[in-house]
Amino acid sequence: MLEKIKQTADFLRSRVSDIPQTAIILGTGLGDLVDHISDKQFIPYKEIPNFPLSTVEGHSGNLIFGSLGGKLVMAMQGRFHYYEGYDMKQVTFPVRVMQMLGVKTLFVSNAAGGMNKEFRVGDVMIITDHINLFPENPLRGKNYNELGPRFPAMTEAYSKELVALADSIGNEKGLRLMHGVYVGTPGPTFETPAEYEYFRVIGGDAVGMSTVPEVIVANHGGMRVFGISVITDLGGKDITEVPTHEEVQKAAVKAQPVVVELIKEMVARS
Ligand code: HPA
Repeated sequence: MLEKIKQTADFLRSRVSDIPQTAIILGTGLGDLVDHISDKQFIPYKEIPNFPLSTVEGHSGNLIFGSLGGKLVMAMQGRFHYYEGYDMKQVTFPVRVMQMLGVKTLFVSNAAGGMNKEFRVGDVMIITDHINLFPENPLRGKNYNELGPRFPAMTEAYSKELVALADSIGNEKGLRLMHGVYVGTPGPTFETPAEYEYFRVIGGDAVGMSTVPEVIVANHGGMRVFGISVITDLGGKDITEVPTHEEVQKAAVKAQPVVVELIKEMVARS
């Protein structure tokens, strides 16, 4: 595994002159951020050695290098989901490559279903913590001490400092920002009403099918992480609306300006 990570990192170093210390995984709800990145260099995943290919509708596969808010960034346009059939090492491979390249701060975004009764569709939730309900941990198997410790703490999986920065930017700009715990599930089914209720009772505010694997690996690799969920639908025992992929995409697009403004400013100040 180490050899493959190094090979991919070397390939990217040979293609990109300035390697950033900030990376962004553009999930549903952050796609438009690409338009704000200047001096862009696109590298399609299919040209990158050892990278899996992105398959899901609404996600294209490119690594983008450029500048955002005066900072060098690398952005993943399209991520690898467990439900697509990738194993956890594939899902998190790009994060390992980021680590090998020297990335220190990772921004992630996703679309999620809201269980918190205060939430509305289109809300933006700052992820303060997560509950990992994936059937497999991405760190299962041989540990490479060069990459991180065997038993990494997850006490501050989402940087408190970055959450505080987001709050102060939100206050300044008058953005409605919620806080909450993200429950990561394998998907691809949306939840039954009883499952939404269960996730709420165990302490979740929103549920989705991504992010947790990448965040675990980023923490293992010593990165600071900031995460955002766009609430695209609501679930619970009294909620009868049926979530669809199209609806999720539509709600995410609506919330996008807030997410883009926040992340741009955060990258500039972090
Ligand atoms: N459940 C799981 N994943 C999701 C949801 C949901 O309700 N909405 C968007 N992604």
